[in-house]
Amino acid sequence: MTETKERTIDPQRFREVMGHYPTGVTAVTGIAEDGEACAMVVGTFTSVSLDPPLVAFLPTRSSFIFDRLRTANSLAINILAHDQEQLCRRLARPAPDKLGNEVWEPSPGGAPVLDGVVASIDCTLEQVIEGGDHYIALCAVQDLAVHRSVAPLVFFQGGYGGFAMGSFMIRGDQDLAPSVARAQALRSDIEALAAEIGGEITLFTRQGDDAVAVLSAVGAGTDIISPLGSHYPLIPPLGDAFIAWSAPEDQERWISRAFGASEQELATLRQRLDEARLRGWSLSLDAPGRREQLEAAVVEYGAGNHLPAKQREISQRIVKSAGYFPVGQLDRTARHDVATITVPILQREESPHLILRLLYPPAGVNGATVESWAQRLKAFAEDAGRQLE
Ligand SMILES: Cc1cc2nc3c(=O)[nH]c(=O)nc-3n(C[C@H](O)[C@H](O)[C@H](O)COP(=O)(O)O)c2cc1C
Repeated sequence: MTETKERTIDPQRFREVMGHYPTGVTAVTGIAEDGEACAMVVGTFTSVSLDPPLVAFLPTRSSFIFDRLRTANSLAINILAHDQEQLCRRLARPAPDKLGNEVWEPSPGGAPVLDGVVASIDCTLEQVIEGGDHYIALCAVQDLAVHRSVAPLVFFQGGYGGFAMGSFMIRGDQDLAPSVARAQALRSDIEALAAEIGGEITLFTRQGDDAVAVLSAVGAGTDIISPLGSHYPLIPPLGDAFIAWSAPEDQERWISRAFGASEQELATLRQRLDEARLRGWSLSLDAPGRREQLEAAVVEYGAGNHLPAKQREISQRIVKSAGYFPVGQLDRTARHDVATITVPILQREESPHLILRLLYPPAGVNGATVESWAQRLKAFAEDAGRQLE
């Protein structure tokens, strides 16, 4: 028989290491058999099974409140919001009648649903399994609802915090000044180009997952102008002139941000990148309603730090407003309304640091004119690349 030697783990170390894993914070509530409304704060809540719908949490075996909650007919798991830290602190104390001064309403099963929580799960205790010095309380879900779709409260390394979307955050930490200063060398040439073609010509730099305007000029009759520092998210199809020349992982990441896109739309995005690289420029055509739809989504994006669900919804709107048109199908004689033509300004670095965008040039031009504008921008970008080196 092989002897297994039990390894001793220092409890302090166990806590310290486990504290590096964040959890949400819930309040498990119920009406005990004597009629008292009870609550305990629980970080160990987890979803267990979809079919049948089961959730679980892990009360410590010495918990006084869990002994009371076990006697309730129904339990509510209340998911606390980012602004409910004080409520959490009140409910975590080992005190009698903790819900006496709190505002709550009964769940369909009768358990307290606290005011202001993100969501609640109404359940019945199915099984209490022993797990060392804790129990695993397995609960059958009877009902569930989102009450307030805001960021949840997060517990991490003994402290409370919130949630921020890393990959979507506008990175204000990178200084725009060097890019703006660098772009000034091209100012008079860009003004001349805008006067020659019409529409708006803007130079963008890349900051993380955003394109940021560093220089803009307009031709006669164009009154819009992208303010310096305007942010555009690099969500497909936006920013393809940055992405087409960047590393394959960066391209896949860009494509993965096309939430809600069908297989066919994803294939089109890949085709769009291939085509941009091949020709050196990328084209979006305008269509009724497209401009308003895209602008509204971009403005909403710029307004701030959205939660993932909202962010996905905005991304979907950007993706759906994509005016991709394969250049191969550009009819040299038919009329076209160009939304944008973009070209990279390639220098020695692999992915472009700057891109040039022509926005809403004169409408109703034939394919031959579109092609000639694109060639003009491409030649301009090549010169600009040399000039900036
Ligand atoms: C953020 C946070 C998470 C907690 N998670 C758990 C947990 O998962 N299981 C548990 O038994 N106690 C947990 N507690 C402790 C209990 O909420 C609370 O201290 C305990 O219910 C009070 O002791 P009593 O049950 O003996 O009255 C947590 C406390 C906090 C502040």
